[in-house]
Amino acid sequence: MDRIIINGGQPLSGTISISGSKNACLPIMAASILTDQNINLSNVPNLEDIKTMSKVLTSLDVEVDTSKANENKITLKYLNTGKSIAEYDLVRKMRASILVLGPLLARKRHASVSLPGGCAIGARPVDLHLNALAKLGAEFKLDRGYIECSAPKGLKGEEITFPTISVGATESLLMAATLAEGRTKLNNIAIEPEVIDLIHCLQSMGAKIEITDQRTVIIEGVKELFGTSHNIISDRIETLTYVIAGALTGENLKIENIQLEHVSNVLEIFKSLNIDFSFNNSSLNINKTKIFQGIELETREYPGFPTDMQAQLMVLLSKANSGSVITENIFENRYMHVPELNRMGANISVEGKKAIIKPSEKLIGAEVMATDLRASVSLILAGLIAEGETIVNRVYHLDRGYEQVESKLQNVGAVIKRV
Ligand code: UD1
Repeated sequence: MDRIIINGGQPLSGTISISGSKNACLPIMAASILTDQNINLSNVPNLEDIKTMSKVLTSLDVEVDTSKANENKITLKYLNTGKSIAEYDLVRKMRASILVLGPLLARKRHASVSLPGGCAIGARPVDLHLNALAKLGAEFKLDRGYIECSAPKGLKGEEITFPTISVGATESLLMAATLAEGRTKLNNIAIEPEVIDLIHCLQSMGAKIEITDQRTVIIEGVKELFGTSHNIISDRIETLTYVIAGALTGENLKIENIQLEHVSNVLEIFKSLNIDFSFNNSSLNINKTKIFQGIELETREYPGFPTDMQAQLMVLLSKANSGSVITENIFENRYMHVPELNRMGANISVEGKKAIIKPSEKLIGAEVMATDLRASVSLILAGLIAEGETIVNRVYHLDRGYEQVESKLQNVGAVIKRV
């Protein structure tokens, strides 16, 4: 199994180019089921999760042309045959596979999607998707680990208020409602830039979607949708991860191909930490920050601080000159990186939803285990500033979400390799 080995302490200098957003690309790929025409996507990151979604869609008879994947372009074309089963073997690899459910129901009036591992129907983690789709007229039953869904009379527009904000459930409903009969009003939606990118793509396919209030959207169902070409937004989480790398060890590190409007909420917070950066519309320049302030902060839905940056921020806060407290509000059990960071010399304790980060003089290289995507990259960041050698095991998590992480870091001077 691959491991990443880092020799810490090198300054990072030069340019890192940001890839397209995985989390924007996945639902947009699923939206290809909504039309029989070509969906041409550009700025598609070359990542394991994108490959998994391609396999899920191929199994549903979407033709996925990856011949230009090296140029970050793919084309999808739904052949609209009878297949509507998303198998366990693929779905278990990636929770986001559930995103095919809404489009399949809208097009085929039937779908059978394996339940992502370890949860019961009606409970987390897909209850918000199912309950909202049920309001549009879908019926569900659980059969041997599969969610069997049907909408015998088709989907009908309704007003739905999500009890909690969910990125995935908002995306499922947006896609399903585009082809439902009549008007759907969705209240309390997620407004992450990835959700807005999906809305823009659906609009370019002919969907009638209007954002009427900050967290409300109205969708007038249409009879059919059409092909389109769409450029995926830049990955804001990758951008902010490299901003932290620059704040830890940068010497005039430039981060380009960014979308400033999607990261400015977090950059405001970084400013309050004393992080030394400047920016224009498409790039950021960062230098190592000598003195950080500690901070008290909570993860929240966009425009709040993203849960997907919590692990990386923790590494930075370990180097602050005063203590910090992070409260994780979005996911339970998202502190699995803490024991690994502590093995490298960090001083972090967890009390329920809170992590208390005390300053640590230095981090020391160690052999550590990546437990999930964002945890893996936090260990890489820690390795970049640790004394000596850090070995990160189970790096397949990284390949799900960070395109060419070693070569991007090597190019700016990091001593990092995969073995
Ligand atoms: C998406 C992102 C993920 C990010 C998360 C929150 C993708 C592919 N993934 O995940 O990187 O961390 O948003 O910004 O875009 N929940 C339920 N029932 C549901 C759905 C969600 O209880 O039916 C809960 C979740 O367990 C979690 C919270 O709601 O506690 C938010 O989850 P959600 O916004 O749905 O996250 P994802 O769409 O899965």
